[in-house]
Amino acid sequence: MITINENYLKLQASYLFADIARRVAACEEKHPEKDVIKLGIGDVTRALPAACITAFHKAIDEMADDATFRGYGPEQGYDFLRKAIAEHDFQSRGAAIDADEIFISDGAKCDSGNIQELFARDITIAIPDPVYPVYVDTNVMAGRTGGFVDGRYRKIVYLDSTKENGFLPALPQQPVDLIYLCFPNNPTGSVITKEELQKWVDYARREKALILYDAAYESFISDPDLPHSIYEIDGAREVAIEFRSFSKTAGFTGTRCAFTVVPKESTAWDRNGNSQSLHALWNRRHSTKFNGVSYPVQRAAEAVYSAEGQQQCRERINFYRKNAELILSTMENLGFACVGGINSPYIWVEGGMDSWEFFDLLLDRAGVVCTPGAGFGSCGEGFIRISSFNSHDKVTAAMARIRAALPAEPGESPVRHTDG
Ligand code: MLT
Repeated sequence: MITINENYLKLQASYLFADIARRVAACEEKHPEKDVIKLGIGDVTRALPAACITAFHKAIDEMADDATFRGYGPEQGYDFLRKAIAEHDFQSRGAAIDADEIFISDGAKCDSGNIQELFARDITIAIPDPVYPVYVDTNVMAGRTGGFVDGRYRKIVYLDSTKENGFLPALPQQPVDLIYLCFPNNPTGSVITKEELQKWVDYARREKALILYDAAYESFISDPDLPHSIYEIDGAREVAIEFRSFSKTAGFTGTRCAFTVVPKESTAWDRNGNSQSLHALWNRRHSTKFNGVSYPVQRAAEAVYSAEGQQQCRERINFYRKNAELILSTMENLGFACVGGINSPYIWVEGGMDSWEFFDLLLDRAGVVCTPGAGFGSCGEGFIRISSFNSHDKVTAAMARIRAALPAEPGESPVRHTDG
């Protein structure tokens, strides 16, 4: 008899964004006249940069000719892309990362899930709350979390990110082995300074722990003092793995290209206390289970680093930043307390009511889709996340609809937060 991985039965409902898509589809079916505006999942709307398209076409033409055709590529990614990343994203910021420490993949979501295959099942994991749900769910699937009791998995050490701590979790009170951090943060949009990040790196070194650092939103950082990479921090090479993606930086959500940085010094221990190279283990895993990202996609990603590619990506980021500014100012003017939206494409809004109720209210009254904060963890209750990824016209229309849908006078709204 074929039996299942029982850990899957511990998962809560469906994947957050699938759940939202289902609710939105039901609303659209019931009210086909409603032109629903989607500011829920962070999915880009602008076309790929022209430099990427040119490189993409050229690479496809190469694939059409026997003389230039390519079959299997290196599992870790082509050198041309790994070198461009190492130089532009790391070495130029003083972060000593070599091309062979970069592993090209089809997504930071997959990598952040797959990486935990390298670690023992009985390690202690620390995960912020609220958080990108993939970190939690993939550990549930692996059997590392225990059962779900009173809204939380028993064995996870939750790092609460709340209004009180400025959405920057404190260091864990107990020893942990694996720590997830994401900055600029999804979903709150909060950021971390070099000084604060140094404390996490020092903690990991002291405790022989490892940090999984998700920097998928680093291109939204506008403050020159904030770190774009954990490798800008002293000592991080031994204790951190970083995830990056072209999805939000260059509009690759549908094209698929990302990378994971695993420095050669990064270490975990076997049960006899011998240190083991995470670079070697990940290389083994990657080359066994993955056959690389397609050649044309890697050429398109390489073009991100050309002068035109850089300028075109910047133009897109600035485009979404303007949307974020409008969302932030609209929600603040309506009296809601907000964070994010400055070094981040996401605005985290305190609704002062159940977050799914607020989600339904915006969907029903304004025809606007957001993401309910509770979907990111119990500390997300009472909040919603609004994404700036859409056209200016749609974001402007969505904000006008929200203004019209919520009563104008402070105190009249069932959702307005009065001390914002
Ligand atoms: C989000 O909306 O949180 C992200 O777009 C989801 C993802 O990157 O997978």
